[in-house]
Amino acid sequence: MKKQITLLPGDGIGPEVVTEAVRVLDKVGDIFGHEFSYQTAAIGGTAVDQFEDPLPQQTLKSCRESDAILLGAVGGPKWDSYPAHLRPEKGLLRIRKELELFSNLRPVSIYNSLVSESTIKEEVVKGIDLLIVRELTGGLYFGEPSERLDVDGEEAAVDTLSYKRSEIERIIRMAFELAELRGKKVMSVDKANVLESSRLWRQIANEIAEDFPDVTLEHMLVDNAAMQLIRNPRQFDVLVTENLFGDILSDEASMISGSLGLLPSASLSAEGPGIYEPIHGSAPDIAGKGLANPLATIASVAMMLKYAFKMEKEAEAVMSAINAALDSGVRTADLVYGNQGSVTTSEMTDAVLAYIGTEQTN
Ligand code: NAD
Ligand code: IPM
Ligand code: MN
Repeated sequence: MKKQITLLPGDGIGPEVVTEAVRVLDKVGDIFGHEFSYQTAAIGGTAVDQFEDPLPQQTLKSCRESDAILLGAVGGPKWDSYPAHLRPEKGLLRIRKELELFSNLRPVSIYNSLVSESTIKEEVVKGIDLLIVRELTGGLYFGEPSERLDVDGEEAAVDTLSYKRSEIERIIRMAFELAELRGKKVMSVDKANVLESSRLWRQIANEIAEDFPDVTLEHMLVDNAAMQLIRNPRQFDVLVTENLFGDILSDEASMISGSLGLLPSASLSAEGPGIYEPIHGSAPDIAGKGLANPLATIASVAMMLKYAFKMEKEAEAVMSAINAALDSGVRTADLVYGNQGSVTTSEMTDAVLAYIGTEQTN
């Protein structure tokens, strides 16, 4: 099969991890007989430097014309004092909105050999398999107004958490559809004890649940959910939540897996290409040092193979190769308490590549 992929390496460790993920895609292409062609486009701070725009028109065009998009990360201290519209993060928010990627799937599981190395007890994390469904194009990130104000002669600022019924309906429905294919449980996470938008969210979740009689719906307040994720993550199957809540809870949940450098994601729309992206950022503290863990981006490639190209066995091959590589004992620094890792970004990929097309693809 022929597939066109737009690469958006972005900033910091973004280009480092995307380079590694492309090596994996190439190997999958070789072994399974697919042709992946790539077009690289600018986003984030790099795009601001080159084009004075964190999402240049030609980047958007390339993305729209592709079968899937692979993103590294955006942002960094260099651009932190830029005006809002020139911030690297704005490029990412804009592309999510332009492509209507309302649904961000962030699966959380733990690779076998990392169970005994977790900072959380083995019996708590073993066999964990949950899915965070984060609403991605609404909520607090996109509500208007969002601006500086003068309140009673004092400097002030406002952000707005607003949702339309249709925006809530589609993400809740997506969560139920995914739960039907998994453990048949949806946990809707909100702050309905305080926020009106959460009360609407909860009401709509209850309505949609009626269309899915074989899926159980429960509600949980977000502060409690943050605690329960570490106390007993096994209670969750699909967890669906507002944009900012999902952002925070998924970084937290990465510690169930062992590192922020492990969690992949897929940002999907009703139709058109999705963005496959690690959940982590540009990690300026380790950029350019060969320390970044490429596995979150490599696992994002597995999500691309599965969701964008319907290449189930290829996706499986990538995930089992990651598992096998970790079983062989290789560790980047983030996977080791005290950061005494022994392999570099590209050596970690070498280890994964060695297991693609071995036993699991026969
Ligand atoms: P971050 O996710 O970049 O890093 C948090 C910590 O995790 C750092 O110590 C970093 O070294 C570590 N880390 C992250 N990814 C890693 C990996 N693959 N391997 C090993 N260690 C890894 O978050 P931050 O430091 O709060 O933000 C830095 C910049 O990234 C900011 O500009 C922020 O806006 C941006 N950001 C971008 C995205 C994105 O593009 N999707 C996501 C989050 C943050
Ligand atoms: C993420 C990031 C982004 C977000 C930022 C960079 C806009 O943290 O992808 O999780 O908050 O969505
Ligand atoms: Mn985030």
